[in-house]
Parts: sequence; structure tokens; C-alpha cells
Amino acid sequence: MTSDNGTVTQEEISIAGCSLVEMVKQKYDEARYSELERCAEKAFTRQHETVDCDLVNTSRQIIKSCLPANFCQLLINSYESNEQLLHSKALSQQIITNILSTSAIDQAAISYLGSEYMPLWYEVSKATDRDNQTTMSFKWHCDTGPAKQLKIIVYLNPTSQHQGNTLLSDKTTTDKLKEIGYVFNSTKYRLSDIKRLTDALKLPHCIESFDLAAGDGILFNPYDLLHRGSAPSPSTPRYTLTLCLIQSPIHWLECINNIYYPAYQYDDWLNVMGLFEHYLANHQPLI
Ligand SMILES: [Fe+2]
Repeated sequence: MTSDNGTVTQEEISIAGCSLVEMVKQKYDEARYSELERCAEKAFTRQHETVDCDLVNTSRQIIKSCLPANFCQLLINSYESNEQLLHSKALSQQIITNILSTSAIDQAAISYLGSEYMPLWYEVSKATDRDNQTTMSFKWHCDTGPAKQLKIIVYLNPTSQHQGNTLLSDKTTTDKLKEIGYVFNSTKYRLSDIKRLTDALKLPHCIESFDLAAGDGILFNPYDLLHRGSAPSPSTPRYTLTLCLIQSPIHWLECINNIYYPAYQYDDWLNVMGLFEHYLANHQPLI
């Protein structure tokens, strides 16, 4: 596996599709995420508001009516007429404030994370019947990034109308498939069907899908649970709004007003600690 001059080849230092450069970056990112976790948990003061809930016990929870149905329709219309409208601060503020003011989401998020949280990015997506074949997020995977993160996927049109869905596996199956190297392997090895793997590992093939009205959402940890999108019927697209949350030492409202305003669509994991450090250096220390 070494080249003719005895140096180590790129092929040799690749492990399961992960290059040495990626591994070093991963270690650096993990240290950064651990520091954010430590700092957020240390600063947390709302322990008295935490509850025992589905999210705490199973890493996922259905939240009814995160957004009003007429607002969901407005988001669909905006997406179809001019997606740039969704980047506007006026509209994004309504999206974020509506969702994070839903008490079931706030309560579940602080109980699960053991800290405050901040929105990192949001996005409206349209899925069609072709996505099962062509889209990587429509194959079984976990999201990368911090181990403690949350995603809320709000359905803008009901599952009964389009038959699309979000499929979730359970934590035991996910942990086993992490152990055998499936979960964070190269995206080219992602599968649409994991039954062959769960059968081989003698695991029950438990896959959840949900009956969701317009405005209902699935709150879950996408690092913790294998998941994939499920494409809608050919006649009706599936519209969803996704909001990503990460831990924070500071309440989300103060974050979006003074520290960081969430981006439209995922770009890269930010140096969030750097943002907080900069903020805290210029304000009253909170931690
Ligand atoms: Fe995902």
C-alpha cells in the first residue's frame, strides 16, 4: 500500500472513505462541540422547567401545530413564486419566533439538551416523487456535527395529501449500525433500505412514519437517529420547513438579536464558540 518511494499513499490513509485531513478536522470539530456543550450546560438556569418527555426518552417527539396552517400556505406560495423571499429577515423572524415560541418545543429542547439552544439555519424544501432515487437525504443516514443537536421538520402540507414522510429508525438500531461502520461512511454507500443489515444483525426492523397535518413537526436528534426522507406521490409535492438547533449558553432570542442570525440553508458548522467568545468579551460575562 506504500508508493514506490516508500511514502504513505492517500489510499492507505483513507479509512472507510474518510481521509486523514477529514479525520483531523473531525477531531478539531469534536473538541469545539465539546467546549460548546460544557459551556452551555454550565450556564443553564432553567432546570426547573425541564420535563420527562418523548424527546428525552427516544430522541424524537411529534409536536402539533408548530406553525399556523395559513402561514404554512404562505411559505409554500413564497417558495413557488420567489425562493429569495424566504431569505428575508421579516419572514425568517416570523418562522423562527413562531416555532421557538411553541412551548412544547422549548420545553422538550431544554429538557433534552440540558441547556439553552440557538437556531443555526433554516430551509424550506420541496420534494417530488423522484427524490427517492436521486437525493442523498432520502437514503438512510445520520447528520454529522455535534452529538447534541436537534432538527425540527415542519410539514407545510399534510402527509395525507402527498403521502411523503420522514422515516426514523430507533437508537438501538442506529447505535449498532454506527458500530459496524455504516452510519458515517461515505455517502456513496447509503442505502434506501436497511432491512438486509438489520436482519443480519438480528435487530427488529422498526421504522416509524407519522401522520402530520400542515404545521405539525417532528423534533429529533438527527445525529442520534437514522433517518431519511420518503418521497411523495407523483401528483403532489411534499413541502417542509427544517430548522436546526444547537446548544447555547444564551437564550435563543438574545442569540438571534445580538450574536448570530440563522442562515438560510446549511452551509457549514460554524465556529459557534468563536461567536460566543466574541460576544462575551464585549458584554457582561454569563459563564
Ligand atoms: Fe439528515
